[in-house]
Amino acid sequence: MNSLVTDAQKAGKRVGMSADSILIRGGKPLQGRIELRGAKNLATKAMVAALLADTPSALKDVPNISDVGVVTGMLEAYGVSVTETAPGELLLDPTNVEKAHFAQIDALAGSSRIPILFCGPLLHRLGEALIPDLGGCRIGDRPIDFHMDALRAFGAIVDKSYEGIRLTAPNGLKGALIDLPYPSVGATEQVLLTAVLAEGVTELKNAAIEPEIMDLIAILQKMGAIISVEPNRVIFIEGVEKLHGYNHRALFDRNEAASWASAALATHGDVFVGGAKQQELMTFLNIFRKAGGAFDIHEDGIRFYRGEKLKPVVVETDVHPGFMTDWQQPLVIALTQAEGVSVVHETVYENRFGFTDALIEMGADIVVHKDGLESITRRVPRRPLEQAAVITGPTKLHGADVRVPDLRGGFSYLIAALTAEGESNISNVGIISRGYEHFIDKLRSLGADFDYAG
Ligand code: EPU
Repeated sequence: MNSLVTDAQKAGKRVGMSADSILIRGGKPLQGRIELRGAKNLATKAMVAALLADTPSALKDVPNISDVGVVTGMLEAYGVSVTETAPGELLLDPTNVEKAHFAQIDALAGSSRIPILFCGPLLHRLGEALIPDLGGCRIGDRPIDFHMDALRAFGAIVDKSYEGIRLTAPNGLKGALIDLPYPSVGATEQVLLTAVLAEGVTELKNAAIEPEIMDLIAILQKMGAIISVEPNRVIFIEGVEKLHGYNHRALFDRNEAASWASAALATHGDVFVGGAKQQELMTFLNIFRKAGGAFDIHEDGIRFYRGEKLKPVVVETDVHPGFMTDWQQPLVIALTQAEGVSVVHETVYENRFGFTDALIEMGADIVVHKDGLESITRRVPRRPLEQAAVITGPTKLHGADVRVPDLRGGFSYLIAALTAEGESNISNVGIISRGYEHFIDKLRSLGADFDYAG
């Protein structure tokens, strides 16, 4: 692939997207029904878990997104056969796990952050692991120190080389006491995927408890693991000698649900999100309602539409059960249409408001405070890295030429263009395929007015 091919184009190509930009004519409400599949942030981890077993696993509701393609590539490089037995159903056979060639691993460098989770499973299966340089959205530093410290606590030796990250475990991996400095989703998954086959008991303190993590624990339990989730973010894992394959339907994608809900709100539309469930979305639904959204909970999904009028909100992003950082970017577009001043405090990542520059160009009134803002009424403790966006509305948005910066920011540009008057050309849209399955088809089925050359 030539070096002028961008990460976004690579991502788009993985799911068969042929063009990298979309021309949207705004002003038309989104209306209709779309179906969710399994969560990006669970399905990809469930695929990694299959590597721990000595028999094949079956995973259902796997979304056709490029991050799944990257994890498939990593698994195949290590000898796991990945077969799509039906649309969205994968059979993952780890019976012939073998060392990977550097070139295969290197080809995946910079594409996703999931490969970091291969460390523990590969150490168990092969005694060593080679992980490419990571990718993922550029929304902050996104260090991996918690991951590496945890792996060292299990007994791994970590070397950084020109090839990527190389790990070995000459004396095997042993259960450990790990206290995370922050309830990191990825580091919690790293500990779970390593501890299940480590010798002895692991106690994990300050664990993340996102629904996707609970679903991963359910999968590991199906495989034979012994994991107990205690109060106050404590998880105990008793190592077992071996694990077998699982059969599992992935949890629905909460982030995709919240994104389409925000699109319905901003465009004054009415969207039924099939497969969305209330339980995992309660925090989002509260803010959605406060912002003037209305919703009806059905057995097979949730209908999202606008209530009487849009209202400003003050919200802090946080780890679960707080308001997820991934929900703020799509919601911000609806807040530009609310009458009054909204404040979004971003407390999880240190750089997740870069996407607002293009919105300002489209006519939004957004001021980003790079060092955050004091606020008396907040529920999340202030973090040194946080920033705040103050959004004053309502402002008319007008079309512009914008370039997608990251996954959720990219989706929010789609919403902004749909809400705006006139035409917007959005480039780099391949990035959106990292986390939104068939988003072009879904836009079409919801009546969006656009041209996409593919
Ligand atoms: N952090 C560290 N050191 C580490 C790991 C994390 O300092 O070793 C910090 C991060 O820099 C960040 C905070 O801890 O400030 C939280 O990061 P976390 O590890 O929880 O995030 P992640 O596992 O890298 C996952 C999702 C993200 C989602 C976050 C928070 C996946 C593949 N990614 O990332 O999803 O925002 O949890 O819920 O599961 C997305 O889907 O668009 C996305 C970015």
